[in-house]
Order: sequence, then C-alpha cells, then structure tokens
Amino acid sequence: MWCSRLLSYPLSQGQCSSYRARAALAQLNHVLEAELESIRGAGTWKSERIITSKQGPHIHVEGSRGEILNFCANNYLGLSSHPEVIRSGLEALEKFGAGLSSVRFICGTQNIHKNLEEKISRFHQREDAILYASCFDANAGIFEALLTPEDAVLSDELNHASIIDGIRLCKANKYRYKHMDMQDLEAKLQDAQKHRLRLVATDGAFSMDGDIAPLKEICSLAQKYQALVFIDECHATGFLGPNGRGTDELLGVMDQVDIVNSTLGKALGGAAGGYTTGPKALIDLLRQRSRPYLFSNSLPPAVVGCASKALDLLMESNAIAQSMVAKTRRFRSKMAAAGFSISGNDHPICPVMLGKARLASVMADDMLERGIYVIGFSYPVVPKGKARIRVQISAVHSEDDIDRCVEAFTEVGRKHGALP
Ligand SMILES: Cc1ncc(COP(=O)(O)O)c(C=O)c1O
Repeated sequence: MWCSRLLSYPLSQGQCSSYRARAALAQLNHVLEAELESIRGAGTWKSERIITSKQGPHIHVEGSRGEILNFCANNYLGLSSHPEVIRSGLEALEKFGAGLSSVRFICGTQNIHKNLEEKISRFHQREDAILYASCFDANAGIFEALLTPEDAVLSDELNHASIIDGIRLCKANKYRYKHMDMQDLEAKLQDAQKHRLRLVATDGAFSMDGDIAPLKEICSLAQKYQALVFIDECHATGFLGPNGRGTDELLGVMDQVDIVNSTLGKALGGAAGGYTTGPKALIDLLRQRSRPYLFSNSLPPAVVGCASKALDLLMESNAIAQSMVAKTRRFRSKMAAAGFSISGNDHPICPVMLGKARLASVMADDMLERGIYVIGFSYPVVPKGKARIRVQISAVHSEDDIDRCVEAFTEVGRKHGALP
C-alpha cells in the first residue's frame, strides 16, 4: 500500500483507507481554494445580503438600520407579500399538506396542480400547460424532449443561462444568432432549412438590459422559413401587455408564438415554480419525456395556492399591472430628466448605465447608506465598460418611494461624478 510505505510504521487496513480519504479531501480543498481565490481575484465574487423581513418594497436588511427601500427584486406586481396570496398559500398548506413526497406521475398529482395548469393555459390563451419545480427546470426539460438530431434550434446569444443549458442537453443542430439581430437570424434560418423542425428560442424580455425581443419580426421570419417560436417570459408574465399576458400580448403576436415558458417565482407571487404552456400534443409529450418533470418532486401545495391566487387577481383586473407601468414611466422619465441614461424601453427593469465597474459598485454601496437597496452589475455579467446599477420597479412602490430613489441617485451620482 502506497500510504503505508510513506509512513515509518505499518497501518491497519482501516487506518490506511481513512488516510486515503483524508488525502483526497485535502486534495479537493486545495483545488477548491484555488478556484475560489480566482473568483475573488477576478472581482466576480457574489456575496449575499441577509433580509430579515418579508419580501416587499420596504425590507429589513442585516447590518443596516431601519427600513430599506428595495429596488432589486423581481416582485414586479408586489404579489410576494399580498395578503390574499399568502392566505391562499396557507389554506392550501392546511388542506393539502406540506408536500407530496412524490413525482407527479407516481402519486404526486393533486386536483390543485391540475387546476393551476388549467388556469395558466387560460391566462396565456394556450391549449395546455405543465408545471415544473422552476422555470430553470422547464427550460432544461423542453429542448431535449422536443428536438432530435434531425432538427435545429436557433437561440439569441443573450438568452438566459437556463435556455443555454437546456439547448446544450438536446441533440438538435444549434445556431446562435446575434442579440436581436434579424438579419443574422434570417441567415441562420436559411441555413437551417435542411433540417426537419426549426425552433427559434428567445427571452421575451432580457433581464440585464430591460430590452424586449422583436417578436413581430421574429414571428414573420418564422412564418417565412416555417419555424416554431419559443419565448421565455420570466420577466414579462403578469405585467407586459395591456392585460399582463406578456411580450406576445404587448407586441400583438399571441397567436404566432407557439411555446411559452415562464416562472411563478417572480411576478406571479414569487414563491417558486415554472411551467410550459402551448399545444396540447407538446404538453402531453413533456409529461412523458421531460426529465426534470419526470424525476423531480411535485410543486408543494402552498406554492400552488399562492400562484393560483396571483393568477386570479390578474385575471380579475389589470389594475395592478397598469399601476406598475405608471410607476416605471415615472422613474424612467425623472431619471432621464436628472441626466442619467436608462437602458431598455418601458420595462420595469431600468438599468442605470454608468460604464465603469467601480463607479457602479461604489454608487450602489452609497445608495444603501441612504436606505436604498440596488445592485451594481459589471463584467463578466455584462460586457466590459457597460457596468450599471439595475433598478427594478414594482407596482407596490409608492410615488414617494420612486421620488426618493431618484433623489438619492442624483445626490450619489453628483458625488461620484456620474452627473455634472
Ligand atoms: C429569463 C429567465 N429564465 C429563467 C429563469 C429561471 O426561473 P426560476 O427562478 O423559476 O428557475 C430566470 C430566473 O432568474 C430568468 O430570469
């Protein structure tokens, strides 16, 4: 035994294998420490602030005094802490239990899961829907189940990581087109004519820039080259479009987008969960073949209860979505008047473009000192030289909250030379 030869006295077999296990762990720690150091060295270490209250426009954050104004959640409609959403979650918890201890096809399907799937397809005006534990899972599970080596998938280069991972798992021919570049998409569609099916995949709204995919143009190219259209609506469901149905409603192409994936973990109550909605045959196939659906636990009843109530509220009235639109306009126009450049168009994701990474980071820290929680993003999350602070507006911010945020930005921007 190599380890016993290293030592001056013989080891028993048990001692020898425990020495080997410790050596393996020491080697792993060495590798991990080097990797962690390289993340620190690259300045891309992500630390987590600890929130000690419910999610909402006003939160408590460990290490900060008093209430903090929160401008960095995906809680676009403020439903994460809506009393009716919470009550519905509690009722489902009481009536249906903590969880199913099962995947859906064994003994993990309750009537509330079927009701929520029906509600989601009605909300999006599609034939059917299937629930997942997250939209990450929905994206990881769709491409492999749907596409074969005979097919092609054409994906925007800035699509969300979960779409990229989902596409990696499938065996279709892969094309990556330049971000929202319709000429490039057309060239790739022409090349992809040799394949059986073509699927164009795009985020409906891109979360780093707050920009919206040109779905009208994508759909007309898809028609011209006989392709299917898939959109990820995580940053659109519940609030984009006159009735909050999403990017496809906003751009008038609900009847031309074939497949929608989205999350229950942002505007729709914010708990967790994701789904695919689209043609019935596709949903039937996903129930048979989609691995994150087949091999993972059912959505917990409390989560189902919360999401179900969030959808009821949105189907009753578009008032919450419209209130968010008005607040977004107020923030964007006041920030532009103050001299800031805000990327994107009319989306509640409002990236305040600053350029230098250090400027974004010190300004975000100074905003927190003034009681306002925003996050700076820099390379490699966004391109070099395009650092920004991402502000996210919610329907439950008051006009006063918005104005306080703009005033703080103006003060901090002047202090650091971002404004004259
Ligand atoms: C565009 C997009 N797609 C998918 C996801 C994953 O959603 P979930 O949190 O439900 O897994 C996210 C979440 O960050 C997202 O922003």
